[in-house]
Amino acid sequence: MEDKYLIKGGTRLNGSVCISGSKNASLPLLAASLLTADKCVIKGVPHLLDTSNMMKMLSGLGAQVSFQGSQVAIHARDIRETGQLYQYARKMRASCLLLGPLLVRTGEACLPLPGGCAIGSRPVDLHLKGLAALGAEFVADKGHIRATARKLTGSEVSLSYPSVGATENIMMTAAAAQGCTTIINAAAEPEIVDLANFLNKMGARVSGAGTQIIQVEGNPDLHGAVHTAIPDRIEAGTYLIAAAATGGHVRIKNVIPDHLRSVLDKLQEAGVPIKEGTGELTVGPSKELRPLQITTEPYPGFPTDLQPQFAALLATVPGASTITETVFENRFLYLDFLRRMGAQIHVNGPLAVIKGVERLSPAQVEATDLRAGAALVIAALKTPGETEIGEIYHLDRGYEDMEGKLSSLGACVRRVTKQAANL
Ligand code: UD1
Repeated sequence: MEDKYLIKGGTRLNGSVCISGSKNASLPLLAASLLTADKCVIKGVPHLLDTSNMMKMLSGLGAQVSFQGSQVAIHARDIRETGQLYQYARKMRASCLLLGPLLVRTGEACLPLPGGCAIGSRPVDLHLKGLAALGAEFVADKGHIRATARKLTGSEVSLSYPSVGATENIMMTAAAAQGCTTIINAAAEPEIVDLANFLNKMGARVSGAGTQIIQVEGNPDLHGAVHTAIPDRIEAGTYLIAAAATGGHVRIKNVIPDHLRSVLDKLQEAGVPIKEGTGELTVGPSKELRPLQITTEPYPGFPTDLQPQFAALLATVPGASTITETVFENRFLYLDFLRRMGAQIHVNGPLAVIKGVERLSPAQVEATDLRAGAALVIAALKTPGETEIGEIYHLDRGYEDMEGKLSSLGACVRRVTKQAANL
């Protein structure tokens, strides 16, 4: 928990890096493996705090879980609530993805209101509304949600916002319910398509994933399946931005360029040279960059999960850039730390105006959440001198072997544990 990064910046990243399987795809895939008493195998699962916590929750529910390399085997023959969920569920918002599968398997679920990144209030009303339409009932009880369902039946659910997690929860539950479900205004993220592909392998019939209307023909007798998670588009985007920010030349392997279209468009608009290959992208070397106007939106719009990393890039791009955050109401906390490094950023509600400075200065900063941590790493990588980033457990939630991957690109990144720091 107390680890820090010491980053000596100012070196151009150079070389190639292989992107891990997607965290945000793996979490619902792992949760969905509870829908059947058969064995499921998920490949391409990254070693992260979040995936490890999800696996601990599955074990806590009675599933046999084994993790070898990047392959997880889950065999949820008998599922029971053992009370071990709470310690993990509080830390991780994605724990609410277990709500639907637990209702399917046991007819009941009790979860603490979920935790996760400090980026706004992040309610779960849309999850509950969707599951209620399929037959679940909910009672809020001292910070917990108690859910029960005697029978789950397909229905029409119209979401007031295309929530990723709510769409996933409803899809999983509908996949095992009797009859057909239609989700209107569904999220269209690539992770939703990946989950739909897995549910189809398990015996459900999901169509329309990747569009605003998803139809699910349920199968109460889902069976085991083997599936590989898609590459992590946010990790890939982070390395693209880090390469661009340092003026480096980096080949990024195991990536699906189409999943990053809005991001590639923005990088190219800023003047970053990018070459696309099959399953890979090569970035840079870039010269003078241009300022950008960015607005975060649900997919296929610009992803909120790369907003902080772009702010770090734009902090030293001459001229005025703007970032408008529309997905989360409180995702600018990290800007205080970029300012501590000398960035000139003015915030007015959801709008951040960034006036590019010539260079940032090293400082002591702290990751306030996962992607904020990535932004600080990028800022540190392009800043000569040593920057200290605290609270990097946030980065461990979502970036597999970040210091190893950055070091292989020539960066000077050192992890210091609390014990070592005290010597
Ligand atoms: C997922 C991603 C996260 C990403 C986000 C948006 C995972 C594990 N996490 O999070 O990295 O930043 O999508 O792309 O996949 N909302 C409600 N009520 C709800 C649910 C959501 O109001 O019931 C709001 C949230 O507060 C937020 C917005 O909808 O403002 C988007 O949230 P959502 O799409 O649900 O994000 P997550 O699934 O939590």
